[in-house]
Amino acid sequence: MYRSHTCGELRLNNAGNQVTLAGWVQTVRKFGSITFMDLRDRYGITQLYFNEKMNPALDGNPVGREFVLQVTGSVLERTNKNPKLPTGDIEIEVADFKILNASATPPFTIEDDTDGGDELRMKYRYLDLRRPVLKRNLELRYRVNRSVRTYLDGLGFWDIETPYLIKSTPEGARDFVVPSRMNPGQFYALPQSPQTFKQLLMVSGYDKYYQVVKCFRDEDLRADRQPEFTQIDCEMSFVEQEDVLNTFEGLFKQVFRDIKGVDIAEAFPRMTWEDGMWLYGNDKPDIRFGMTINNLKTPLRKTAFAYGDYKDGLAFKVFDEAETILAIAVPGCAEYSRKQTDELTEWLKRPQIGMNGMVFVKCNADGTFKSSADKFFSEDTLKAMAAQCGATAGSLILILAGPEARTRKAMSELRLEMGNRLGLRRHDDYKPLWVIDFPLFDYDEEENRFVACHHPFTSPKPEHLHLMDDRSAYGSIKANAYDIVLNGTEIGGGSIRIHQKDIQEKMFAALGMSKEEAHEKFGFLLGAFEYGAPPHGGIAFGFDRLCSLLGGQESIRDFIAFPKNNAGRDVMIDAPSAIDDKQLNELKLKTL
Ligand code: AMO
Repeated sequence: MYRSHTCGELRLNNAGNQVTLAGWVQTVRKFGSITFMDLRDRYGITQLYFNEKMNPALDGNPVGREFVLQVTGSVLERTNKNPKLPTGDIEIEVADFKILNASATPPFTIEDDTDGGDELRMKYRYLDLRRPVLKRNLELRYRVNRSVRTYLDGLGFWDIETPYLIKSTPEGARDFVVPSRMNPGQFYALPQSPQTFKQLLMVSGYDKYYQVVKCFRDEDLRADRQPEFTQIDCEMSFVEQEDVLNTFEGLFKQVFRDIKGVDIAEAFPRMTWEDGMWLYGNDKPDIRFGMTINNLKTPLRKTAFAYGDYKDGLAFKVFDEAETILAIAVPGCAEYSRKQTDELTEWLKRPQIGMNGMVFVKCNADGTFKSSADKFFSEDTLKAMAAQCGATAGSLILILAGPEARTRKAMSELRLEMGNRLGLRRHDDYKPLWVIDFPLFDYDEEENRFVACHHPFTSPKPEHLHLMDDRSAYGSIKANAYDIVLNGTEIGGGSIRIHQKDIQEKMFAALGMSKEEAHEKFGFLLGAFEYGAPPHGGIAFGFDRLCSLLGGQESIRDFIAFPKNNAGRDVMIDAPSAIDDKQLNELKLKTL
């Protein structure tokens, strides 16, 4: 028997027990003729006490950090208790110990606040994972997984696996491909999601499906993106949008109850995609705070500006020539100094944001106004602007003018930045919502064609179906598609699907696919739709994102046992890497 207890288990009521523990040495502290060590395992830390009698066995320091040690001894009440540790009331008076394995000195300290940089920790991920903070993250991930499975199981969902070696599934990213040795010159694609397979399962009659499943996307990486990530992927038959939203709102609430002990009683707010874009500047609004975006431009007036002519007949080109003028009122910031407004302007001028500048209006406490464009605006105009923005005394109105898409995006970023600066985006303040009524199509300026806003299997709203015959109306077709958003992060998305062959063919054609191409790529799905496809719909949650938000952290990496770095590399195993000529020959491949 290696151990009688774990390192997180013993309490004061165990005092006097003879126990055996095994674990890793966290610290060694020598005080003259006695020594203390902290022994760590997955369950916690227990203090070991080596008395004078035992101490000669430690002569020459045979035990170092991260050694694997087995100790036997009796549980003692500590004179110097540590209230921060669950085991802090006791220690083990060691009677015997055995080094089960030695350890080289670890390259960084195995503690929450480690001295190891990112790359180093990734290279030694197996040591990094010993740190309590990562252990807590992986534990949370496991608990979320279990909560999800319990909820879905309770509703009669079946977990059914789908293949990883498949043909491309268009979810908007590039595919990872795998060469086939037995079919030279041909490739599998790794699934960007199990989308078409889960739809085929609906055709087969498995009307409630789920899977916690790996997905693979070759796209630019960010804090919340990994090339391989996990989805909680779900699909149901004989459902309308309302059924799907209710079922998965229930899932979300269950996870919050189980993981955070939080009961979210009220229904999640629902916001149309259009409102998201107008009021928050994006389709994943952070509704933890207000500061919504106002449009200061009216297309009806000769001058671009909505509040009458400029002072003294002046023309303000920045506004007049702008496609759009957007403003937010930031409460409590009217006192911003020149330095602070200059700094904000510089922030907006960075290439990531790309604005030329910013106009501000200070709503002073005494009811007067001060603007960086005072020259152009009368006091009345500034007052009207403030009223439209809902600005109260003490607010700072920030105004951006420019081309629609860029300005809206910049305003969205600025709003979030001001939210951060004012501490309005607290990690423990959870504000989920549904974003609904997405457009069916986006226009891809680069490729000069319409692309699916979600994916090509998403159904148009029935009342917009007829518009599929009119290319000029594509931009106004809305889809039966929805996203679930939490604190400004999209954590899930889905739709009611197309289940009729002719509509699916129309969709492929709208996306610029010839009939032949559609059949070559998706013949299996179109074929299946000829054999009684039921109405169906579903959703997929980003499991890693959900975990990181529940854990109150930005990066999903620390919730994945073995993640890739920003260049898509696993620096621990050194992948990707070259393969040898023999393998290349077998695969009939040549590298350039
Ligand atoms: P979608 O592409 O929106 O939908 O993906 C669903 C959710 O997966 C998460 N996600 C990611 N997480 C980490 N790294 C990535 N690279 C990454 N990409 C996406 C997001 C996202 O909301 N088949 C459809 C779902 C459906 O229609 O049922 C799909 O995959 O949180």
